[in-house]
Amino acid sequence: MSVQIPSCLLFVSFCLFLFGLHTTVSAQCLSDQKSSLLSLKKALTFDSSHSTKLVGWNQSVECCTWGGVTCDETGHVIVLDLRNESISGGIKSSQWKGLNRLEFLSFGDNFLSGNLPESLLQIPSLLGLDLSNNKLSGRISKLIRVSSNKLYNLDLSSNSFQGSIPEFVFKIPTISTLTLSKNKFSGSVDLDVFGKFKDLYALDLSYNDLTVIVNERGSFSSLTKLNSLMLASCKLQKIPDIKNHTRLMMLDLSVNELKGEIPSWIWQVGNGYLRFMNLSHNHFSGLQKPYTFPFLLDVLDLHSNELKGDIPVPPRRVYNLDYSNNKFGSSIPVDFGNVLRSTLTFSISNSKVVGVIPESLRNATSLRVLDLSRNGLTGSIPLIGNLKDLQSLDLSVNKLTGRIPEQLTNLTSLSFLNVSYNHLSGRIPQGSRFQAFTELSYKGNDGLCGPPLKKTCGKRMS
Ligand SMILES: *[C@@H]1O[C@H](CO)[C@@H](O)[C@H](O)[C@H]1NC(C)=O
Ligand SMILES: *[C@@H]1O[C@H](CO)[C@@H](O)[C@H](O)[C@H]1NC(C)=O
Ligand SMILES: *[C@@H]1O[C@H](CO)[C@@H](O)[C@H](O)[C@H]1NC(C)=O
Ligand SMILES: *[C@@H]1O[C@H](CO)[C@@H](O)[C@H](O)[C@H]1NC(C)=O
Ligand SMILES: *[C@@H]1O[C@H](CO)[C@@H](O)[C@H](O)[C@H]1NC(C)=O
Ligand SMILES: *[C@@H]1O[C@H](CO)[C@@H](O)[C@H](O)[C@H]1NC(C)=O
Ligand SMILES: *[C@@H]1O[C@H](CO)[C@@H](O)[C@H](O)[C@H]1NC(C)=O
Repeated sequence: MSVQIPSCLLFVSFCLFLFGLHTTVSAQCLSDQKSSLLSLKKALTFDSSHSTKLVGWNQSVECCTWGGVTCDETGHVIVLDLRNESISGGIKSSQWKGLNRLEFLSFGDNFLSGNLPESLLQIPSLLGLDLSNNKLSGRISKLIRVSSNKLYNLDLSSNSFQGSIPEFVFKIPTISTLTLSKNKFSGSVDLDVFGKFKDLYALDLSYNDLTVIVNERGSFSSLTKLNSLMLASCKLQKIPDIKNHTRLMMLDLSVNELKGEIPSWIWQVGNGYLRFMNLSHNHFSGLQKPYTFPFLLDVLDLHSNELKGDIPVPPRRVYNLDYSNNKFGSSIPVDFGNVLRSTLTFSISNSKVVGVIPESLRNATSLRVLDLSRNGLTGSIPLIGNLKDLQSLDLSVNKLTGRIPEQLTNLTSLSFLNVSYNHLSGRIPQGSRFQAFTELSYKGNDGLCGPPLKKTCGKRMS
């Protein structure tokens, strides 16, 4: 060693050449990186019968090829992905010293416990840190500082952190994806405190014990890069001012205290590029007219509100449509099935829907789940035997009359059927599918007969 170092210093270009070789031939793990990783492995507690990455970290193998390890061209570890390795216990501060080029670190889906491992925030080169879905808990110290001045992705979701949103978060001006959902953070937080993150791309504060305060024309409303805003269960009383968020694609304002009409402007956010909208579990009474749903919307969840009046005709690309638990008091538009051609699931259960089930549903050929239960639907069951992918059909607790159409036995994917509590009559179709359903699928229809019901059909019936 004492000879090699000076010679290397003398022949700098030779040293660079050697490095160059490493770049072109293969990124070989540097020995200090290997020993840092091995001491990390030694210090972590993990279940080796479940581990697929750590368990294979082995002195005799080149460390850039180890599971979860990615090196840069100089042989420094830059990504460490230790998700789902059954790691438990805490992380000590000494373990990161050698890994000073680390950019992305994930400990997601493990069983880490104790408080936030502060040492992770001291890694100077860090760009992304994922600690989601662990058992971390407690208040996060106000004294924590983040060493990296480039951190842009922080995920602390699905832990049990308490107290107010940690202060260090507000000192990371570069943050673009911040995920703090499913913890026990509490207190009130003004949405405008996030207005200073000019690069904010995704914010998720859902399912804490937070009260999120919204201002008109505050600094939050001027963010230009926001793509995803998740504020479920944030005690919101007002819709955030997102009129100018021209890149917004995902909006979740479910489980809040929003009321009145859903304003028509909300369908224009994201310049018509909105794909996911969840306004469920609020107190909305209707949709302000006129409204135009964004063409690209593919998830629309309006369930558990107090929507009255016309049943909104969704955009054609919607694949998940939930209107259940509302108070429409109107009937399903005749053409409704024709706009559900690409829809996979549609529910309007328990929503005071009246009138007949439109025949056009036979054109909703992508449907897997159709739930029209607990309404005041009348008329007969439409001929929808052609819905080849339908797995679940719930028409229970309505006022449907007539027979169960024979052609429903053509629903070869059907694994759940409920037509209970209607006024149906006649013999239950005897297809093999239909034999598999029990009495519970048919009860409460006085006129129905034949297996699986005990009531036999008279001559007239069969
Ligand atoms: C976690 O790893 C186990 C195997 O060890 C695997 O079965 C499971 O699907 C993984 N879970 C996730 C979320 O990747
Ligand atoms: C390390 O890996 C080599 C080559 O795959 C293998 O032969 C050896 O048994 C491994 N050692 C340990 C301790 O797992
Ligand atoms: C939103 O955009 C409009 C027009 O581009 C602008 O006049 C208005 O000041 C912006 N509002 C906010 C809160 O940034
Ligand atoms: C909408 O939000 C509710 C409540 O947060 C949740 O249960 C539901 O799964 C969400 N809908 C979709 C389509 O993600
Ligand atoms: C189903 O769609 C076809 C065109 O694809 C249309 O001609 C027909 O009228 C539709 N059926 C109903 C009942 O609306
Ligand atoms: C059920 O499907 C078969 C074959 O796909 C078809 O021939 C038959 O007409 C269908 N039955 C009814 C009642 O629609
Ligand atoms: C069908 O709905 C009725 C009424 O809600 C219920 O009692 C019955 O158990 C349901 N049947 C099945 C198969 O779930």
